[in-house]
Amino acid sequence: MHAAVVRSFDAPPRFEEFPTPQPSTANEVLVDVIAVGLHPRVRSAADGTHYTSDGTLPMVPGVDAVGRTAHGELLYFVADDDAPGTMAEQAVVDRRRAITLPEGTDPIAVAAAMNPGMSSWVALRRRVAFQPGGSVLVMGATGNAGQLAVQIAKYLGASHVIGAGRDPHRLDLLKSLGADDLVGLDGDADAVAERLGRAAADVDVVIDYLWGKPTELAMPAVLKARTDRSKALNWIQIGSMAGLEITLPSYVLRAANLTIMGSGQGSVTAAGILAELPSLSEEIASGSLAVDPLPIPLSQVERAWSTPTGPGQRIVLTP
Ligand SMILES: NC(=O)c1ccc[n+]([C@@H]2O[C@H](COP(=O)([O-])OP(=O)(O)OC[C@H]3O[C@@H](n4cnc5c(N)ncnc54)[C@H](OP(=O)(O)O)[C@@H]3O)[C@@H](O)[C@H]2O)c1
Repeated sequence: MHAAVVRSFDAPPRFEEFPTPQPSTANEVLVDVIAVGLHPRVRSAADGTHYTSDGTLPMVPGVDAVGRTAHGELLYFVADDDAPGTMAEQAVVDRRRAITLPEGTDPIAVAAAMNPGMSSWVALRRRVAFQPGGSVLVMGATGNAGQLAVQIAKYLGASHVIGAGRDPHRLDLLKSLGADDLVGLDGDADAVAERLGRAAADVDVVIDYLWGKPTELAMPAVLKARTDRSKALNWIQIGSMAGLEITLPSYVLRAANLTIMGSGQGSVTAAGILAELPSLSEEIASGSLAVDPLPIPLSQVERAWSTPTGPGQRIVLTP
């Protein structure tokens, strides 16, 4: 078969022949891959910077995909960290990490949106008991996951959703996706903190794709502005687009009812994540969540790696 093959962490993958993986347990099945999303997590595995990377080369990137079994079943599946990735003509699927998609589901939309969408869907349904009527701040709302988080928070009943991001044009587009308030993160730090405090003082949940400097600024700003500091605030760490670390003054934890947690594989069980996927895929398939895939043939994977994307757009490779 052909696959996207990484031979050096300094170069994009190339379309090459690669040994076809073989199922080795009763839970595994070989599928023809139909569509694979080029997510940030895929890029970091392909350049060796993801924390699961052990430096082994050659490697095939790809963390999830839509594929079809020899019996014609359409599956969405998440690859095991230890298995070859999904950017290939064929992949081995562990049935315990797969869901069946109804016939007629658009595989490209699902491949584009499941990974970014599940980040907030799982966080709001599995990490906190989010109640309809609650309010949510999305840090990093201009990315794929952030845009979907705004929509998913609304879908799950949020009464007020605030999107925060640095790109003014992308931020502005969030109004049409349901954001009630927007906060620009670019500019003078005091002014940004003031804007965040004013817009998000009393939120119940923060969904944070940024971490780093923006979070260092936002956490005290939101807490200082709270009307009632004993009101619970769940800060859910999901991505680290702006930094891997933060410095946190100790008073922040004493001065308000703040809980900091993460959401992702490990903090939620694989079974817990899987249980959420059918309802999310239904929403993607129904078109109720705005999804904008940019399909590119797998044979052009090198070009795909450097293709710029518009707001909310996700590259999807099609073998
Ligand atoms: N834990 C999970 O379950 C899970 C699941 C999916 C994704 N994630 C993670 O979530 C993050 C976002 O994923 P995505 O799919 O939305 O990626 P994406 O579509 O590439 O979007 C990333 C966004 O981050 C913004 N950004 C980057 N650096 C920034 C900074 N210094 N300050 C402010 N904004 C900054 C970019 O803003 P500009 O538009 O201004 O460039 C862009 O809009 C990634 O870290 C990803 O690995 C986690």
